[in-house]
Amino acid sequence: MTVPSKSSGAPSFEALLDRDDIVWMGQNTTHLAPAPEVVEALEQSTAKHEFNVYAPAGGFQELRERIVDDLRGPESDLPLDAWITDGAVGGLHHICTTLAPSLSQIIVSDPGWPWPARFVSLSGVPIRVLPVYDEPTRLMQAAQIAEVIRPQSLIYLIDPLNPLGASYTRDELQAIVDLARKTGSTIIHDCTYRHFADQHTLAAELYPEGTFSTYSFSKWLGLAGLRVGAIVAEPSLLASITAIPANPLGASIQGQRAALAGLRVKGPWLENLRAVNRANLERVEQIVEQSGLGTVVVSPSQGNFLAVDLGDSGWTADALCDSLLEEGVFIRPGTYQSPLYGERFVKISTSVPPEWIERFGAVWADRAARGPGAFAVEAIGTVGAPAEAVEA
Ligand SMILES: Cc1ncc(COP(=O)(O)O)c(C=O)c1O
Repeated sequence: MTVPSKSSGAPSFEALLDRDDIVWMGQNTTHLAPAPEVVEALEQSTAKHEFNVYAPAGGFQELRERIVDDLRGPESDLPLDAWITDGAVGGLHHICTTLAPSLSQIIVSDPGWPWPARFVSLSGVPIRVLPVYDEPTRLMQAAQIAEVIRPQSLIYLIDPLNPLGASYTRDELQAIVDLARKTGSTIIHDCTYRHFADQHTLAAELYPEGTFSTYSFSKWLGLAGLRVGAIVAEPSLLASITAIPANPLGASIQGQRAALAGLRVKGPWLENLRAVNRANLERVEQIVEQSGLGTVVVSPSQGNFLAVDLGDSGWTADALCDSLLEEGVFIRPGTYQSPLYGERFVKISTSVPPEWIERFGAVWADRAARGPGAFAVEAIGTVGAPAEAVEA
């Protein structure tokens, strides 16, 4: 089966979306049947034509409070406030562009998620990249940071780390916080995948005066298309960047209604989501092991995805992903998130129906058995990653 192609050779995003047989395992988005309460909130909001109005700049008050409670836990009295943004990425853009004039550099990992570095680089802020793929924890180490840190650095911590699935311990975070505090540096703690982790420490608990946490509804609640997320920080720190908001007209009202409904039913929703995700992660590990193609990089992953190192299989990440997409299975090559190591690994998202995992598994096993040689002519330059689908 061949995916329809644009003249460039790559299928358009719309072409993929129009098909009902695509297995979306490349964006770390959740594709389980949504909670009925979330759908009802969307329907009610639409029926009331709430889309006719603008939301408050910082978002609905109840939503802000529930996000804070969700992040810090019901027992904590850590003073935090939330600002609703157009997805976590809207918050990251806002933090990065607002802080950029006062920054000496941004410190990021490779592999990582490229956007914050690009946002600050718009103002000429130097980007310091720390390689982590071959580090024992597959995360930035305090010792690595100590070698490059300068006063007024911005340290971008993705936790759990997209794309490898590793997560910081409290002690690791403490060591990084100590460096940040000593140098007057700021931390962005990107908590987009926090809900999938077995345990998770908030850097803001250790360094409230210098940490911005970013929060997403795209992954745990499956609201990627609604564009709703948040920046969370100690109230005066948050106020220091929100006087001139990126979107003073407020994030999508419908997105906020859906997010609120999701937080109200978060207990049972998360219990099921985590169980499905864990079982799927295990099944993908089994498929990879049985196929003999590649090895899982971090096990168990703390995210809703895992990375597979392709070793000496002969496959490059791009060629393998192109080849799977020909069968409607969309997974991500490492090249999107890792200039240094990207051809060595692929990333597979797992908060999806178990049937999708089996469809993925069948194609993966086939590619493993037949090897890259059988696909060289078709795969190179005929399909390509769906251009507009790669940004997640
Ligand atoms: C590390 C990381 N941060 C932020 C985002 C964006 O999240 P949102 O959809 O809430 O804008 C993503 C999306 O893939 C991500 O992987």
